[in-house]
Amino acid sequence: MKVTVVGAGAVGATCADNIARKELATELVLLDIKEGLAEGKAQDMMQTATLLGFDTKITGSTNDYSKTASSDVVVITSGIPRKPGMTREELIGTNAGIVKTVAENILKHSPNAIIIVISNPMDTMTYLALQSTGLAKNKIIGMGGTLDSSRFKFQLSQHLGCSPADLNAVVVGGHGDTTMIPLIRLATWNSAPVSNFLDAAQQEKIVKDTMVGGATLTSLIGTSAWYAPGAAGAALVEAIVRDEKKLFTCCVALDGEYGQKDICLGVPVIIGKNGWEKILDFKLNETELAAFSKSADAVRSMNDVLKTL
Ligand code: LAC
Repeated sequence: MKVTVVGAGAVGATCADNIARKELATELVLLDIKEGLAEGKAQDMMQTATLLGFDTKITGSTNDYSKTASSDVVVITSGIPRKPGMTREELIGTNAGIVKTVAENILKHSPNAIIIVISNPMDTMTYLALQSTGLAKNKIIGMGGTLDSSRFKFQLSQHLGCSPADLNAVVVGGHGDTTMIPLIRLATWNSAPVSNFLDAAQQEKIVKDTMVGGATLTSLIGTSAWYAPGAAGAALVEAIVRDEKKLFTCCVALDGEYGQKDICLGVPVIIGKNGWEKILDFKLNETELAAFSKSADAVRSMNDVLKTL
């Protein structure tokens, strides 16, 4: 298996580090536009190989896409991260051009790759990657919901005093502070509804804290987070290369599912060797569907901005 990570910033490098530690690829290419950055980080990671005991060959490249040729999976993390006080949506002007160029270059050298999009605003960047590559819709996966669901489980675990691994909980909708929808009604602690253990105020706080999970970290750190975003990207790579058929929430092209069309938005999907293989119908109630439709409206108006750039 050959995997490429585009963007050797904090998210891309962390994603690559996780891919290498888990030996998800025989060959791993890290590419960045900044001279020497990817080569340097690739070499630094390779120098952990004997310490961590992995056998993945990591190489770096400064914008030479021929090095990425015949990748099975490509993770796109390129673009600027947000600063404290910024929304993900404010990044569109800068990141759209970057993501479009990256996706087109990737396609030239790896026409059969499955592409995972992490760059923000993630829902619109996933839509853009789909439009600009013309790849089959199952091969374009936006990572947001995977990260947001992990953050949701973290918040729940803090209130329940339990292991996040014992929780099942998903966030659907957009990957924005106001567009994501943590589905608390369906969240369970080893199959018992979390509402058995949490009162309404606690549930409300968990949902709110999950929605601003990224923004909270951005204000603490001074830039956007990278450990969980990088790990979420690697978890999707793992599900693809090991054909796990695992359920994640990912941003994928909808064609009538959840009442939406011509949009990429977060829904529960099965991830395996063909990319996203199936969308699951979680039978949202009226309130949840209304929130999903509101989220779609916000993402759709962000997608419209693409036409003006
Ligand atoms: C976050 C960024 C990666 O949520 O979107 O941390």
